[in-house]
Amino acid sequence: VRRARIIGCGSALPVREVTNAELARTVDTSDEWIVQRTGISVRHIAAPDEKTSDLALAAARKALAMAKVEGSDLDLIVLATTTPDQTFPATAVRVQAALGMTRGAAFDVQAVCSGFVYALAMADNMIRLGQARTALVIGAETFSRLLDWTDRGTCVLFGDGAGAVVLRAVEGGGTTDDPGILSTHLHSDGRHEDKLYVDGGPSSTGTVGHVRMEGREVFKHAVTNLAEVVEEALSANGLTPEDIDWLVPHQANKRIIDATARKLDLPMEKVVLTVHKHANTSAASIPLALAEAVSDGRIKPGDLVLLEAMGGGLTWGAALVRW
Ligand code: ACO
Repeated sequence: VRRARIIGCGSALPVREVTNAELARTVDTSDEWIVQRTGISVRHIAAPDEKTSDLALAAARKALAMAKVEGSDLDLIVLATTTPDQTFPATAVRVQAALGMTRGAAFDVQAVCSGFVYALAMADNMIRLGQARTALVIGAETFSRLLDWTDRGTCVLFGDGAGAVVLRAVEGGGTTDDPGILSTHLHSDGRHEDKLYVDGGPSSTGTVGHVRMEGREVFKHAVTNLAEVVEEALSANGLTPEDIDWLVPHQANKRIIDATARKLDLPMEKVVLTVHKHANTSAASIPLALAEAVSDGRIKPGDLVLLEAMGGGLTWGAALVRW
């Protein structure tokens, strides 16, 4: 049975860190409010000339180095972003050119905060089908560019960054103990567009627009949808919450993550948390958290890792990985 195995991870963050106290100087908010409602203390914000592709490339180079793979060995790049450098070409082809990859295919995926899980699913399926052998999957955002810095309800929640993984086709027994991505599960429901969206775009306003959100509504949907998709992923593999070694959730809000862990009866020691220092980096949050937990030795070969995310669309999804 052919599966896609994660053989390298890497991440990149802009240098500039913005604290809650710094935001409180320009909008009517406080460190106390932000920490209590979201768990966020600080976020990284890209420099004016720092683009999504710069962060993506830096994360990709680290993931390739860990995997001992050259850019020219890749035959697929799938990059998840909501904040591409330009309307076109895809940010993925910029990364492709910079890495010296001239064959195969590179494209972007847009599923907002679920983008990394969607991109991982695309690459996993192409590897399973034999359409790719060595793939780079990236989540990269300069989400700060979409923020209305006068809207305290949204501007305190997000940050910039990128994370990447390298996937390699492996042949194995096909049991849940064999390494690789066990399964991916994607969902969307466009009826909820009005709860989280950007009020602009090339074909509507001709502008980039700003993030608009009904936070409380999004919160409710997140907790329900995530619980359902996690259950779906576990039961598809005949596994239970007790089998999970690490939960690597999309990092939107500590309260959403706490609620998901509680529903799974999973102790917080098994949850990888970065939201306090990265805030919500949209498609970048899962690979940023993954790269940290792999590099500090928390995630080890043989571990069962559950990834899950929800975002604008609404979109949501999960992936189960035997490390
Ligand atoms: N500082 C101080 N007060 C604030 C701030 C702020 N930054 N933002 C909002 N408030 C005020 C509101 O104006 C409101 O005041 P009012 O009662 O006088 O009207 C009060 O705080 C309560 O506002 P709520 O929106 O009801 O607060 P809530 O407890 O729901 O927390 C939050 C808001 C943090 C946005 C929460 O709803 C949330 O996390 N939702 C999930 C949204 C999310 O994570 N989206 C990310 C993208 S989707 C995803 O990744 C899952």
